Amino acid sequence: MKIINLGTSHQAAFYVATELYKQMLLNKESKLGLATGGTMIEMYKALVTLLQNNRLDVSQVETFNLDEYIGLDSDHPASYHYYMRHILFDRYPMFDTAKIHLPSGITEDADEEALRYEALLDKRGPVDIQILGIGQNGHIGFNEPGTPFDSLTHRVDLTESTIEANSRYFDNREDVPKQAISMGLQSIMKAKRIILLAFGAHKKQAIAQLASGRITPEVPATILHQHPNVEVYVDHAAMVDLNSQNVGLDESCRGDQV
Ligand code: PGA
Repeated sequence: MKIINLGTSHQAAFYVATELYKQMLLNKESKLGLATGGTMIEMYKALVTLLQNNRLDVSQVETFNLDEYIGLDSDHPASYHYYMRHILFDRYPMFDTAKIHLPSGITEDADEEALRYEALLDKRGPVDIQILGIGQNGHIGFNEPGTPFDSLTHRVDLTESTIEANSRYFDNREDVPKQAISMGLQSIMKAKRIILLAFGAHKKQAIAQLASGRITPEVPATILHQHPNVEVYVDHAAMVDLNSQNVGLDESCRGDQV
């Protein structure tokens, strides 16, 4: 795992967008694992700009999102279906809608939907690049602290801290769904390459826990130490002192500061 301070969130977003762009340029049939959340907004804007400037043919690219709230239909402005359309797919309409995948939030049987989604990932995957954000509690996707490391796509009870963090996207806190369907930690680990983004001082603690080198289900992102190809890009505010005594990363984890 490399933890690299790319300076500002703007610089980091542009760098990661370029990595996604290059992936699609080099392999027209790329499979991308996509994430939602505030952290990703600038990254998708930069990606749309790159796609538009270069008119890249992405019609064969296949995308898989990490998660969706249970109970929100795809037209709900806080749903991740809506987010993805609004921020990427409507802005660059060359993506083939048949190749865009998210778990459905309005299924009769969420457990059944989770099984369907995992089977789809197995059949069509692995993804070439999985993009991840990180929660303040160390969650990735909606895998909250305590999620087993061998979890596949599953129904999730959201923690109070996640509900609180996400309430900014809803009119009332009571409107925030209490459950979601999320790719599991094991599903995420199947990706060939993983890029995690974290910006802002409120993410510093989660990055510090990652940098400690300690692997524990209480901080779900720490499973990423067991993956051979992970890059973590942060801004100044989320960066931890990699020379501190509390940092357990070995020498290979230290990225260059830009
Ligand atoms: P955020 O969410 O980008 O909105 O901070 C990240 C996450 O919870 O995974």
